[in-house]
Amino acid sequence: MRTRDRCLFTLHIAAVLIFSAYSLDICVTDNSGVRCGDGNHVRLTRIQGNEVGHVQKIDTNDTQGSVTLTTLNTKPLVIEAESFLSPEECDYFVQMAKDEGLKESETVLNQPENQRFVLRDHDGNKKLSVREMRHTIQGSFDVFLEDEDILKLYKETGWDKNGDELITNGELKSFTPMMLQAEIQKIVKANPEKHSRMSKQVWLYPDRSKDKVFAEVQKRVAKVVGLPLELIKLSDFQVVSYGIKGHYNAHWDSARVEPKVPCCTRERTKQCRICRYMTILFYLNDVEEGGETAFPVANNSTLDYQTMMEKDLVDLYRKCEESPLKVSPAKGKAVIWYNHFVDDANGWLGPLDEFTFHGGCPVKNGVKWIANFWVKTTDHKIKDLKKMQKFYKASTEKQPKMSKEEL
Ligand code: OGA
Ligand code: FE2
Repeated sequence: MRTRDRCLFTLHIAAVLIFSAYSLDICVTDNSGVRCGDGNHVRLTRIQGNEVGHVQKIDTNDTQGSVTLTTLNTKPLVIEAESFLSPEECDYFVQMAKDEGLKESETVLNQPENQRFVLRDHDGNKKLSVREMRHTIQGSFDVFLEDEDILKLYKETGWDKNGDELITNGELKSFTPMMLQAEIQKIVKANPEKHSRMSKQVWLYPDRSKDKVFAEVQKRVAKVVGLPLELIKLSDFQVVSYGIKGHYNAHWDSARVEPKVPCCTRERTKQCRICRYMTILFYLNDVEEGGETAFPVANNSTLDYQTMMEKDLVDLYRKCEESPLKVSPAKGKAVIWYNHFVDDANGWLGPLDEFTFHGGCPVKNGVKWIANFWVKTTDHKIKDLKKMQKFYKASTEKQPKMSKEEL
């Protein structure tokens, strides 16, 4: 083959491959009924928030009748829906969680095997100030101490030999990260609220058991957010409870796009990043006091990590009041936001919306129950479509007739 022919041949093969990768016959069920096509008709969409205060009512044609959406914020887009769930549905999920059994929530850094001692010498002067030591401990152990805690630690351990409240390289040598870890553990054992997160949680998989209540809620979610039911069925569902002082410091529910790291799925949980297109957070009870969901960088003109560190914006346990956007819990209410933008080209998972940085303020009185309904995709549209197709097929296949023995 001549070089030119070989080039043409390669182009031809590439075109066939690209074409076949995107031509998948798929049907999905969305607000306009069942729609079939080659896959290009399935795109991630967003609710139109318009401006703050914008209200829209969506008929759900189910037991709840309708859901009213109110735009609370546009950067990031945050939408509230009162009475998305009925009180009975809320109680049902709480009971389901209790039956399954909740466990103490962990963050990645809570687990000793993931702890790495990272010095945060912000000004590079080879000495750690009290604030830099606080940030070092936050970054290494996910524990949020006060300046007084640090000074107490120095006093008790004698690490700050000359008492100048600065830790030099020489002083650092006298204590190992292991020794520091042991001290930190003592502190959080006595004060668990110093952890970045203090809550209990359980993952529920109601979709695996054909749960009727959950199936109805999934349909309602699909209707309200305007995404295919088959995509909604790929979602994760987690119930979380917080007691007094329970909180969750600010974080992102999803991860920044990194093309070399694949998205996590139920099958792939190692060496992957979390890809949650949107969050629908349900409040499952009325909280007596506190427990708001806060967005500490909402409406900032830029997102600047240095300011975030300087102002300790992560630390919602202490800085919740200063948050520019807070949503109060109410039984049955949903708060909805998009962790990612949509990629214009393929209509699938785009960049992380970093302004969705958020967390749960401390509960001051009472208890707080929430459910996270995370609409997930991967960065591989075609694989997601294939999974969705399975759900579509399962819902349209005739139920097999029962045999006599089963009757
Ligand atoms: C979460 C979360 C906020 C809240 O569970 O990921 O952000 O208000 N919760 O509990
Ligand atoms: Fe969250």
